[in-house]
Amino acid sequence: MAKVVAFSFGRKMSNTDVMLKEVLKKCEEAGHEIQFVRPDDLDIKPCTGCCACVVGIMSGRNNGKCIHKDDFHILEDAYYSADALIIGSPVYETSPSGTFKTFCDRFGPSHDLAFLTEAKKERLERDGENALLPDERVFKPRVGCLVGVGGARTENWTIFTIPIMYESMMSAGVDVIDTHMYYGAMNVQHVLGVPEQMERMDRMAQNILDALAADSDDERKKWRGTEEGACPVCHQSMFRVHQGSDRVECAICGIDGKVALVDGKIVYSFSREQQDRSRMKYAGKLEHRNEIADGAMTQKKVENLAELKKPYQHIGE
Ligand SMILES: Cc1cc2nc3c(=O)[nH]c(=O)nc-3n(C[C@H](O)[C@H](O)[C@H](O)COP(=O)(O)O)c2cc1C
Repeated sequence: MAKVVAFSFGRKMSNTDVMLKEVLKKCEEAGHEIQFVRPDDLDIKPCTGCCACVVGIMSGRNNGKCIHKDDFHILEDAYYSADALIIGSPVYETSPSGTFKTFCDRFGPSHDLAFLTEAKKERLERDGENALLPDERVFKPRVGCLVGVGGARTENWTIFTIPIMYESMMSAGVDVIDTHMYYGAMNVQHVLGVPEQMERMDRMAQNILDALAADSDDERKKWRGTEEGACPVCHQSMFRVHQGSDRVECAICGIDGKVALVDGKIVYSFSREQQDRSRMKYAGKLEHRNEIADGAMTQKKVENLAELKKPYQHIGE
């Protein structure tokens, strides 16, 4: 038996809640343990940017402890207990909700698989059996699914939602196997009156069940979404184009590719090396962990900083 956990950032018992509950219901019927969490019902304070969590991990003082005393530990515990995660958010201003973003900020570097893996290695080398180690559940492989719900009839009004929602799977290194955007939700009072959307959630549940039953790691983490997408790693199609060149960057993975016009069709290509350094994979996370570790060690000091700040201090005070 595995554990399937859903986080819904939508209104209580509205579209997002019920779509995620449909996935959980199917997983429970298949014999798995389930948990449904509504972060909006908890006290989750926004990140202050103090970086105490990152310093805690890097210095070996703790495992990324946050200065806030709130309900975040409930989300952390639910997330780490999961073998499969489904995260759902309504679309607000073309993007996921503010609480969703707050969750991602709090679940950032302090929950990054590379930060925690390196910390574990360093501490074991230094302190042996007395080492203060991260929660072992951090290192467990997980699969993830993302669901967005937009009221707008025009899909473009949901455009940043799924790409930004990858953030919720990025730090922990969750393998995203399926994503779905339900748009045009304003057309019907409730998704329970839209059978094809509920059936799509049954498909998502089946994708999770198949991944959980896989007998190899490649089979477990393979993409099971309905659309392939142009990026071969995240299977989405959100790129930054570099004007005047053939260079494109996947906004989600942070990897470079090339774009060409072949027989009147746009074709994107990403080298194996680039695919391997996606930030959705360990190597990409390690690259970023190392740049932060290096940046902290080599940061250039600004002479007379207190003096230089003085002309700005009175503004807005
Ligand atoms: C502040 C606000 C902004 C919204 N912006 C968008 C938007 O940009 N695009 C869209 O498709 N729907 C937008 N919506 C509509 C919601 O996505 C829609 O009501 C959705 O069904 C909410 O999900 P829920 O029913 O699970 O709570 C917005 C709603 C609110 C309250």
